[in-house]
Amino acid sequence: MFARRFGLWTRVGTRNRKYSTTPPPTPTPTPAAPIGWGSVVALAVVGSGAVALYQYQRAKRLKALEIKSVGRPDIGGPFTLVDHTGKPVTDADFRGRYMLVYFGFTYCPDICPAELQKMGRVMDDLKAKNLDEFVVPMMITVDPRRDTVKALANYVKEYHPRLIGLTGTPQQISEVCKKYRVYASSGLTEAEMEASDDYLVDHTIFFYLMGPDGAIREYFGKQMTSEEVSAGIAKSMLDEFGTKSWWDRLWGK
Ligand code: NI
Repeated sequence: MFARRFGLWTRVGTRNRKYSTTPPPTPTPTPAAPIGWGSVVALAVVGSGAVALYQYQRAKRLKALEIKSVGRPDIGGPFTLVDHTGKPVTDADFRGRYMLVYFGFTYCPDICPAELQKMGRVMDDLKAKNLDEFVVPMMITVDPRRDTVKALANYVKEYHPRLIGLTGTPQQISEVCKKYRVYASSGLTEAEMEASDDYLVDHTIFFYLMGPDGAIREYFGKQMTSEEVSAGIAKSMLDEFGTKSWWDRLWGK
């Protein structure tokens, strides 16, 4: 009974609304916007300025990318070597991680020890940024005759627990040096090197950062500090996996 009455009452209410004689509220007319030729021209100027600026920034970014991709394939490539534990390794074993590659030799009196200490500090810096597990530090020897698996095992542990030492046949070493454009020479013949273990190997000094796909990302010279190198590696990783805002992308930062 109550429900029926309630329903009826609702219908009446609806009917009342339907036939309501109250006129609908008339929208308040908005005053005409004062658009004159002056503002049209100003808007056009500002608009085309913004478009031009965007296009300029876009062209700049594309050019930067082009330079990067052109510069990439020149350094690095496949290699087959043996690590300091005696395990055969290829470049493909490191896919999905960054390789930080240094070429040197264990008999080097000063430069290699200093550079490998720097590499240890770079790894510590990266650890502080929680990025170290994605980076594999390694030294490829330029002196395979003296740098045996055992010599490398004793050597790498002096610098960083994660440092990998790589050696191979003289042929394999000469191939990987060629691919990384590394110059390495003792200036002696094989026979002269056999005659004496007391010689130095002149070699190129760089840290190469190879990306998760095995291609070159960056290289860092001897003059760079460990802070500069670790910052460069972190930047390369952020550029690739990105936490950049759209604003930074627009401005090519
Ligand atoms: Ni050296």
